[in-house]
Amino acid sequence: MAAEQSKKWILMVTAQTPTNIAVIKYWGKRDENLILAINDSISVTLDPAHLCTTTTVAVSPSFQQDRMWLNKKEISLDGARYQNCLREIRARANDYEDEKKGIKISKNDWQNLHVHIDSYNNFPTAAGLASSAAGFACLVFSLAKLMNVQEDNGRLSAIARQGSGSACRSLFGGFVKWVMGKEEDGSDSIAVPLADEKHWDELVIIIAVVSSRQKETSSTSGMRETVVTSALIDHRAKEVVPKRIIQMEEAIQNRDFPTFAQLTCSDSNQFHAVCMDTSPPIFYMNDTSHRVISCVEKWNRAEGTPQVAYTFDAGPNAVLIARNRKAATLMLQRLLFHFPPNSDTDLDSYVIGDKSILKDAG
Ligand code: DP6
Repeated sequence: MAAEQSKKWILMVTAQTPTNIAVIKYWGKRDENLILAINDSISVTLDPAHLCTTTTVAVSPSFQQDRMWLNKKEISLDGARYQNCLREIRARANDYEDEKKGIKISKNDWQNLHVHIDSYNNFPTAAGLASSAAGFACLVFSLAKLMNVQEDNGRLSAIARQGSGSACRSLFGGFVKWVMGKEEDGSDSIAVPLADEKHWDELVIIIAVVSSRQKETSSTSGMRETVVTSALIDHRAKEVVPKRIIQMEEAIQNRDFPTFAQLTCSDSNQFHAVCMDTSPPIFYMNDTSHRVISCVEKWNRAEGTPQVAYTFDAGPNAVLIARNRKAATLMLQRLLFHFPPNSDTDLDSYVIGDKSILKDAG
């Protein structure tokens, strides 16, 4: 192998990927191994300045095995999800040459070269802020750059999906749809961009961190239990979501905030309703989350037209999407009034960001 001529070289790529928040939720799989969803979903990708994963991947002939560190702690790469992503990327690797550094790696060399992966989240891991979405999207994107993979982000999204379903949507900025697909091998289960981050740039996203503690039920096991035990999930996946997907796409294209807000809030509420309908029931939201919902609902009603949409993933933290900067400022004032800092009901923190696009820092 040409790459073994010198054991001294090391090749490195760094990438940064923001997380995404679903406004029409993915909940339930039809294939656990390939991670194929039972319904389409739509999300908005956040600004990487606030919630993102930064991953550095390195390869060197001196590395003895694949290794990974997450937030500075070494973690195992043995799980099927990591192995699937690594295998799929290696299968698509291409020749690489850097004459100046004397590095020459042929397509086949990648099968025997080991990688070291260093990943860091700038937000609480596994607290319902879609950390696995940013994490696997960044892992796949950076490995693809390192191994000179020539596929577009749509094809890469099908690989990131095998790390975590929601990760496929973080390969694009702006509004993104994950098409559930029909094929058994998952080849048509990919993310497609609906509108880029400039399309609706008045929107402002506020994340009210109700709790940064790790959630008790992971999304993976929660949705598995829902699919097996909920009497409502089938109706949601087959009847409700397909209609909402069409309406949501239209609302996004027309920048129709009242429809967007109504669909976003309803879909979040229905997702938590199917969690409650699971046996044993899953409670991701807590009293503070419910109070945030009441606060937004009352204000929207008082204004006569929605100013803010709320959505909650598999955790108690509120994601609030304000129609513009003025509404965001008023929303923050309201949150500070209802949840005063250093009181019994204060929030852990606020994060404010605009929508944004995947940034390649490689
Ligand atoms: C509530 O993508 O974390 O955030 O595919 O098992 O890794 P796995 O689950 P994950 O589930 C995300 C669920 C959600 C809704 C969404 O992001 O669409």
